[in-house]
Amino acid sequence: MMLDIERTLIDRDAIAARVREMGSQIARDLERDLNAEDAGADYGGRVAIIAVMTGALIFTADLVREMPLKLSLELVTVSSYPGSSTMSKGAAMRSVLPKDLRGKHVLIVDDILDSGQTLDLVKRLVQEQSPATVRICVLLRKLVPRVVEVAAEYVGFDIPNEFVVGYGLDFDGYYRNHPEIAVLRQPVSGADA
Ligand code: IMP
Ligand code: MG
Repeated sequence: MMLDIERTLIDRDAIAARVREMGSQIARDLERDLNAEDAGADYGGRVAIIAVMTGALIFTADLVREMPLKLSLELVTVSSYPGSSTMSKGAAMRSVLPKDLRGKHVLIVDDILDSGQTLDLVKRLVQEQSPATVRICVLLRKLVPRVVEVAAEYVGFDIPNEFVVGYGLDFDGYYRNHPEIAVLRQPVSGADA
């Protein structure tokens, strides 16, 4: 039972509908990029999805199944909310990026764009490898000032500055399996601060 859930912000149907839309839009855009290239090139083998663990796990699983493209799926782990804190303490890579991104069309997928530190870090590291394109896709974007300016090309939903859980997002490692985007009963913020 999810007794600590106070209310639902985005329900299952709304998430599913939006993820379908995003998947087909992204697939269309990538297809256009691939078609614009030399037809002799390794068509279709050059789309790399980089999912930021663990928050993007469920979103990515649903999103890529809406993208009928030949693609590779890579996972990177970035930690930004150690323990039960809900305040960003900066981003740190906990794994290495795939090393073969040169010339590829890279889509970085994360659960939420908040301070911007996580996606800025991953994007900069991807760009060092000279990919053909880099895009960012997030399910949620918080309407807060960014600590680091980073833009997402694809955004599922803009949400107010509330701490949310579910559909991959956690509080202290829990609630990722909750199927909706929800707000926890207060108080949760700064629990380990
Ligand atoms: P940023 O680096 O501050 O943009 O934070 C991005 C990461 O922080 C995301 O990948 C999430 O894992 C986490 N995060 C930010 N806001 C929330 C939230 O409201 N609930 C759960 N996790 C969050
Ligand atoms: Mg995360």
